[in-house]
Amino acid sequence: MSKVNGAPQKRLLQVLNGQEGDQTPVWLMRQAGRYLPEYREVRKQAGSFLNLCYTPELAEEVTLQPIRRYGFDAAILFSDILVVPDGLGQTVGFKEGEGPVLEPIADLAGLEKLDLARVLEHLEPVYETVRRLAKSLPDETTFIGFAGAPWTVATYMVGGRGSPDQGAAKAWAYRAPDEFQKLIDLLVEATILHLSAQVEAGVEVLQIFDTWAGSLPESAFRRFAIEPMKKIVAALKVRYPFVPIIGFPRGAGPMIVDYVRETGIQAVSLDTGLSPSWVRKEVQPLICVQGNLDPLLLVAGGEEMRNGARFILETLGDRPFIFNLGHGIVPQTPPEHVAELVEFVRDFKR
Ligand code: CP3
Repeated sequence: MSKVNGAPQKRLLQVLNGQEGDQTPVWLMRQAGRYLPEYREVRKQAGSFLNLCYTPELAEEVTLQPIRRYGFDAAILFSDILVVPDGLGQTVGFKEGEGPVLEPIADLAGLEKLDLARVLEHLEPVYETVRRLAKSLPDETTFIGFAGAPWTVATYMVGGRGSPDQGAAKAWAYRAPDEFQKLIDLLVEATILHLSAQVEAGVEVLQIFDTWAGSLPESAFRRFAIEPMKKIVAALKVRYPFVPIIGFPRGAGPMIVDYVRETGIQAVSLDTGLSPSWVRKEVQPLICVQGNLDPLLLVAGGEEMRNGARFILETLGDRPFIFNLGHGIVPQTPPEHVAELVEFVRDFKR
């Protein structure tokens, strides 16, 4: 590891600040989770998933687990994007094998029940987790905080659960865009509060997940994905000009170029569907990129996984780049394959 004045350098922060490093930094979305036996153990102890998110010593422990095993260059806070609706006062639960279940909000009367004023207090255990991790993480590990983007969080709040087409949120957004905009505006404010509190508590980088951005046609993408992100980034930049922000507009396709140009982010996370060769020409000249190995190649492991990783590193690795997956690790991933992948990225010579 390179050192300046005896202090270990954080590889991920260096790349985000435009400095050349000696090695490509690597971390993986959903690096904490059910594929790890030690996570399943703590998860059982916690009872419910939200209880795990709101118990600082347990959330700290599961954040550290993948760092101990693999020495990733970054730790991502263990939490969920749906703590924000929970903080706003919507009833949120997680059902075994089903995922999130929320009491759906589908009209202005539903919006009336949400209260921005209770977010910070309700999410205090999350910020306590951040304060603990800021002390317990290794010196060379960059600490990432996160939130969901307003559109993606709204799809769960309106639909009441995950859905293949985000139909319920779209129905409201298309039928009464100015009403739906009120929910988006509220989420912009809640997201700014939540991310600011994470920075105050000690995270060094922020990632904003817009998992369902790709389901929006162009004009709705501009209104409900780009515009809210612009407002969030601008507000955070006023308060914390040196905290880099990574955007993840999953499924945006070629709209990712406008997303990068217009939102003010410092890096963009690429989903599995984006071609590295296209990204090299159209996106990487504009911004640092992160990605984008297919998480299912990590399940397969072996030569196919290494070929996939090699192509990405050969295509994108010589300009500001962070190695990651194109979406989160899936539960059936063998932990040994993660170790093999990290070793491959670390040994790769550009
Ligand atoms: O390691 C990390 O990446 C940090 C923790 C993290 C979780 N969720 C933990 C989690 C992060 C960054 C998220 C983000 C998240 N949550 C997103 C955006 C990224 C993406 O994957 O698209 C979304 C859409 C959610 C909402 C969510 N949370 C869903 C749809 C589900 C159910 C599906 C599933 O994987 O179970 C969750 C639950 C969840 N969030 C789990 C974990 C580890 C599994 C729950 C469990 O352990 O019982």
